[in-house]
Amino acid sequence: MLVLGIESSCDETGIALYEMGENGRGALLGHALHSQIAMHREYGGVVPELASRDHIRRVVPLLRQALVDSGKSLADVDAVAYTQGPGLAGALLVGAAFAEGLATALGKPTVPLHHLEGHLLSPLLSASPPSFPFIALLVSGGHTQIMRVSGVGHYELLGETLDDAAGEAFDKTAKLLGLGYPGGPALAQLAASGRPEAVTFPRPMLHSGDLDFSFSGLKTAVLTHVRGKELDEQTRADVARAVQDAIVDVLVAKAMAAIKKTGMKQLVVAGGVGANRELRQRLNAKAVKARVQVYYPELEFCTDNGAMIALAGALRLAAGNPAKPAGAIAIKPRWPLADLTGQPDSPPA
Ligand code: KG4
Ligand code: ZN
Repeated sequence: MLVLGIESSCDETGIALYEMGENGRGALLGHALHSQIAMHREYGGVVPELASRDHIRRVVPLLRQALVDSGKSLADVDAVAYTQGPGLAGALLVGAAFAEGLATALGKPTVPLHHLEGHLLSPLLSASPPSFPFIALLVSGGHTQIMRVSGVGHYELLGETLDDAAGEAFDKTAKLLGLGYPGGPALAQLAASGRPEAVTFPRPMLHSGDLDFSFSGLKTAVLTHVRGKELDEQTRADVARAVQDAIVDVLVAKAMAAIKKTGMKQLVVAGGVGANRELRQRLNAKAVKARVQVYYPELEFCTDNGAMIALAGALRLAAGNPAKPAGAIAIKPRWPLADLTGQPDSPPA
């Protein structure tokens, strides 16, 4: 069974082909991606209308590329999976309309998917994947969540951010320090020359006793600290370091608390912030002590991509979830993951 996957929920257009064998073993045959970061950089953030228009321009050439890379033709495709939500409405519409139109023309069904389900399952694309069940720490520009993943379609939200996402906190504080977009990598780079505890910021909700997060206060604390001051290079680096330390401290503490609470031995870190070296080092050190294995999807599958959508579609179908007849388009720009887990689905794998 060959599944075409289409991702267009934000500022990346991703197309991929995933083949699921009868034995339940699958393989990613090809994937193509275009990131709009360079286009949005000029505006200091994602401009939704520009994002939608760019998805329209990219989707056909990327599909051609993915087909060539896979050695497949459209006639080989058995189902078209795509991100139905959550995300930017216009951007989602491009992927959904393209997927439903293509599937209609091919006479094949579709699999509309929740974007986060793609992220949650993305570690299974790795050469040495985790096995179910595992804890997932999902940290991107739009989401900060801790989830228990027991099998395909079995996701339990254990905690999430009450306001800004971790990536958003990186991006917003980076902006206050005059760094470019996206701010996360730039702030992390500057933080490398910051002195430990030269400045300290609050660790929001560190001792809240639950697995929730709050990052918007951090932005305010940084603003208060830097407002009206001429900052020299060392001071900017110290502030960057303090921001990173505060965010990483909370992420590590909550992820390890989730491990302790559930007794799980595998932790998966997905989303763009998972690229942060400090986070990785700190998590790895804690995990060794707790005898927990930490998995990071390859960087290209950490951020938004089509491969995770093709994979999620193939896994859903393999688990016996019915595909949808092609045609009707219904995007879900706001779609709590809890709604998804309430759907009838397969028993835990
Ligand atoms: O998952 P992602 O590519 O996009 C979505 O939001 O879906 O995540 C992007 C986020 C941005 O906020 C970016 O600043 C952050 O990930 N990021 C980082 C690093 N690399 C990317 N944050 C901290 N350190 C990094 N090295
Ligand atoms: Zn994402």
